[in-house]
Amino acid sequence: MATVDTAKDAAVLAAHAVEEEGVRRRDFIHVATISFAGVGAAAVALPLLGSLSASADVVALSSIEVDISKIEPGQAIKTSWRKQPVFIRNLTPQEVKEASAASLDAMRDPQTLAERTLPGKENWLVTLGVCTHLGCVPLGAAAGEVKGEFGGYFCPCHGSHYDTAGRIMKGPAPTNLAVPEFSFLSDTIIKIG
Ligand code: FES
Repeated sequence: MATVDTAKDAAVLAAHAVEEEGVRRRDFIHVATISFAGVGAAAVALPLLGSLSASADVVALSSIEVDISKIEPGQAIKTSWRKQPVFIRNLTPQEVKEASAASLDAMRDPQTLAERTLPGKENWLVTLGVCTHLGCVPLGAAAGEVKGEFGGYFCPCHGSHYDTAGRIMKGPAPTNLAVPEFSFLSDTIIKIG
């Protein structure tokens, strides 16, 4: 009996050891994940807390200023913010009119143009240049690029079509191109972030 008990005890101890090792590993992974998430959260939070603690160069990376004076109506540019492509588009008066009047019923992710732009500046569409399907960079911002069936952006990876307001109209992408936080510092300079 003593032998059996000892064997049982050994098995129980071994099981506990494995369990504790598992817990430690899980804890490590958990802590590592939280730490990584913490870095991301800190990067996002820096624009808000920048004046409190972040150095000026870190804050600068968190936001960019872009001169939009050379973007003619009907043109767009690509820039980069926080290592992601960003499209800045100057819609023509006709595009603003049509994008404002577009039926929300036909949209997968219904949003008006006004909800995606700033008051009085509805011609300036600022979006991430990241397809919301699997993250490819859509075409349509540079001169001569295909703009898709709705005149906005076209993702060649799996065929998502966005309209001039960056709203998903056709293809597998689930949502509109994301609009980052941005503001006008003057009529010709915008700040993203
Ligand atoms: S990544 Fe754009 S359609 Fe798939």
